[in-house]
Amino acid sequence: EQINKGKYEHYMQKEIHEQPESLTTTMRGRLIRGGSCKAKTVLLGGLKDHLKTIRRSRRIVFIGCGTSYNAALAARPILEELSGVPVTMEIASDLLDRQGPIYREDTAVFVSQSGETADTLHALEYALENGALCVGITNTVGSVIARKTHCGVHINAGCEIGVASTKAYTSQIVVMAILALAIGGDTISNQERREAIIDGLFDLPNKIRDVLKLDQEMKDLAKLLIAEQSLLVFGRGYNYATALEGALKVKEVALMHSEGILAGEMKHGPLALVDENLPIVVIATRDACFSKQQSVIQQLHARKGRLIVMCSKGDAASVCSGGACRVIEVSYVEDCLQPVVNVVPLQLLAYHLTVLRGYNVDQPRNLAKSVTTQ
Ligand code: AGP
Repeated sequence: EQINKGKYEHYMQKEIHEQPESLTTTMRGRLIRGGSCKAKTVLLGGLKDHLKTIRRSRRIVFIGCGTSYNAALAARPILEELSGVPVTMEIASDLLDRQGPIYREDTAVFVSQSGETADTLHALEYALENGALCVGITNTVGSVIARKTHCGVHINAGCEIGVASTKAYTSQIVVMAILALAIGGDTISNQERREAIIDGLFDLPNKIRDVLKLDQEMKDLAKLLIAEQSLLVFGRGYNYATALEGALKVKEVALMHSEGILAGEMKHGPLALVDENLPIVVIATRDACFSKQQSVIQQLHARKGRLIVMCSKGDAASVCSGGACRVIEVSYVEDCLQPVVNVVPLQLLAYHLTVLRGYNVDQPRNLAKSVTTQ
């Protein structure tokens, strides 16, 4: 039943729309909402004997490729905040090219939907040789990465058929947010923040149901962008990863050049591309970076940029005050979970662009679901 398209035309479409359910499954049994005197907490059975070692590590290194790397990047800030352990990022192939340093005092976290990606697997073998504690975050029980890591967590997103990863991405971020809560542990000082995140996690499937209602709006936007050569996506903070992931989706299925850009780097090069023709998505939902993104929008308006701004519900008028722009309004959630909501309209946009441009959504040319060669 899981691999049936049901009422959907394509697997990618089905997998985008089933995210409220896949996220519910990912969280099942892992979040504990206590009674009035019992704190809310989390449980990750596969890691419970290793949490002490992870907390004492010199650093946590996230390793992955493509969408899985982007998911880790989205989770990085909350892991840094709650664990207090430095977190670094490695694209698996680049770590291997450089033979970058991995130490026995490191915790290396391998993120892979398939659990079979050759680059990630070779990076795992390299980290094992170097004596790091290796943690796997995969969607495939029994996969080689799940078997070779010392411990880990399954994301339980259900079988993903579309080559473009969608529901696995959101489940990966949620698992890593739970991982951050587990490593961070309960302290008086972070209790309020933890509870807000746990409440946010419980509510996330509803928020995803909400954002999925933008389907027709994203189809209309896709119609406007159908003949474009290129699409830029600007994000920062928690949503730098959303910019990279949104651009990756557009590139790989709609076969349109797209680039995720760290908004803080805008003045250091990308600004030269801005004119009245190139469409630019700016992610400017409410978080600590909001005012900086407002200033980015103003600078883009000043250069007559063709803007599509993603903002929190109720912010449309203020984000577009400096000039014309199209707005995508999404529900507000706790900052570290906002990337889970924000990526959905971009997944829908990539999906509709692909169908309208007449390309194969589930099997994009030249790509395989699982890249088992280096
Ligand atoms: C995702 O849409 C891509 N098809 C690709 O980037 C993928 O995420 C990457 O190959 C890693 O795969 P994995 O998660 O199975 O390791």
